[in-house]
Amino acid sequence: MGRLGLKSVLVVGSGGREHALAWALAQSPQVGQVFVAPGNAGTEWHANPDAAGWQPRASSANVPIPADDIPALVAFARDQQIDLTVIGPELSLSLGIVDAFERAGLKAFGPAKDAAQLEWSKHFSKAFMRGNGIPTAEYETFTDYDSAARYVRDLGKPVVVKADGLAAGKGVVVCDTAEDAEIALRRCLVEHEFGAAGRRVIVEERLEGQELSALAFCDGENIEMMPFSRDHKRIFDGDEGPNTGGMGAFAPVPGIAYDIIRPIHDLLRRTVTRLPKRIGTPYVGVLYAGLMLTTDGPKVLEFNCRFGDPETQAILPLLDADLYEILTACVEGRLDEVGTHWRRGACAAVVLSSPGYPGDYPTGLPISGLDAQPENAVVFHAGTARLNGQVVTAGGRVLSVSGIGDDLPEALRRAYAHIEQINFEGKHYRRDIGLTYQEQSS
Ligand code: AMP
Ligand code: GLY
Repeated sequence: MGRLGLKSVLVVGSGGREHALAWALAQSPQVGQVFVAPGNAGTEWHANPDAAGWQPRASSANVPIPADDIPALVAFARDQQIDLTVIGPELSLSLGIVDAFERAGLKAFGPAKDAAQLEWSKHFSKAFMRGNGIPTAEYETFTDYDSAARYVRDLGKPVVVKADGLAAGKGVVVCDTAEDAEIALRRCLVEHEFGAAGRRVIVEERLEGQELSALAFCDGENIEMMPFSRDHKRIFDGDEGPNTGGMGAFAPVPGIAYDIIRPIHDLLRRTVTRLPKRIGTPYVGVLYAGLMLTTDGPKVLEFNCRFGDPETQAILPLLDADLYEILTACVEGRLDEVGTHWRRGACAAVVLSSPGYPGDYPTGLPISGLDAQPENAVVFHAGTARLNGQVVTAGGRVLSVSGIGDDLPEALRRAYAHIEQINFEGKHYRRDIGLTYQEQSS
C-alpha cells in the first residue's frame, strides 16, 4: 500500500492494451501509483489529483523489466508492496506468472498456468470444448503430415490449420483449398516453421459468419460480460492482406440479438464452472471467446486468457466503474459483490501501424501531434519509445486512437478526426473500421 492508504498497481506488458489498463486503473479513486513493466512512451505521466472525467488521477511510471522476467517482476512487486498486478500478455501467463505471484503471497489478476492452457494449447482447448458441450468447429489433432493430409482430403470441405501452441498470432491458416491446407501442414509438421508450437496441429472445419469478441471478467465462479466488440485482423481495407495483431476494434457491436447473447453467456459460464473439474484450478482473469456467429448459433474459434488488443482500447473507455475494484474482486472471488456498469454510446479504436507491418518495418521514426488533448478521443501508445525527449516509433503497431461518442458513427468520426493530427513517416491505418456496422447503429 502506498501513501495515504492509496494502492499501488503493476501492469505487466508494453502494448496499447497495457496503456489502456494503466489509464483505467489510474482513474480509480483507490489507486495512488501505477507502474508498467516494461511499458512504452505513453505509460508515464504525473498525477493530477484534480483530474476529471477520463483523465488519470494517479501517476504512472515505467519499470525496465521485461514481461517474461518473472523472478524480477515478483521481486519488484514485493519490494514496492504492490497491491495488485495485472497481467497483459499471454506469454507471461503461459510461463506461470500468476502461480509465481501467488507463491510469493502477492495478488495477480490473470489465470494460473494450467488454466491459461485454454489459450496456450489449442489441442487442450478443443478437447475441453468437445468434452463439455461448448460449440466449436469439428476438428482433429495430428502430429504427422500424412494422416493430417488424408483427413483434409476425406473431409472434402474448406479447413483451417492451427499450430497447437502460441505462435504470436501467426499460427492460424484459413485455407480455401486442400492444396492450401497441405502447404500449411507442411510448414508446421515438416518444416517446423513454428518450432515446438507447431509440432502438433489442429485441422478444423472452416466456419462462415460474422466474428465477435466476447470478453468476461471471471472470479473462479462468477462472470461479468463486457460489451461485445469486433476486431479487424487484416492489414488492409476490405479485409485484404495478411493477418495482424488487430488493426482496429469497436464496442458495443450493434445488432446482436438477445437469442445470441444468452448462448454466449452460457458457454463462457460453462467454461469457467467446468474447467476446475478438469484441471483442479479455478479460472480467474479475463476469459475472451473469439466467436463465429454461424447459422447454427455462436461457435468458439478460440479462447484467449487475457484482455484483447485492440479490443481493450475500445472497451475500457466505456467502463463506468472502478477497474481496480473489479479486478481485485475477481482475485478475491467476490465479483458478485461489485457492479460493472458501462456507459451508453460507443467507442472505436483505430490502430496506426509502421510502414511494412506485419512484415519488416523501420523503427525510430519521430511522431508528431501527440501533445493535443482531445475531448472525446484518447491516444493509447503501443510500439513507441522516447529518444532524447522525442517520441519515436518502436514497433509494428505504434498507437491506437479511441474515439467515444453517442453511437458508433460518432465514435468513428472522432477517432478518425484525431488521427489526422498525428503523423510519422509511412503511417498506415485502415479507413474502414466499423464501416459495415455503422448503419445498424443509428
Ligand atoms: P484464432 O487465432 O484461432 O482466433 O484465428 C485467427 C483468425 O482465423 C480468426 O479471427 C478467424 O478470422 C480465423 N479462423 C480461425 N478459426 C476459424 C474457423 N474454424 N473458420 C473460419 N475462420 C477461422
Ligand atoms: N485482437 C485479438 C487478440 O487480442 O487476440
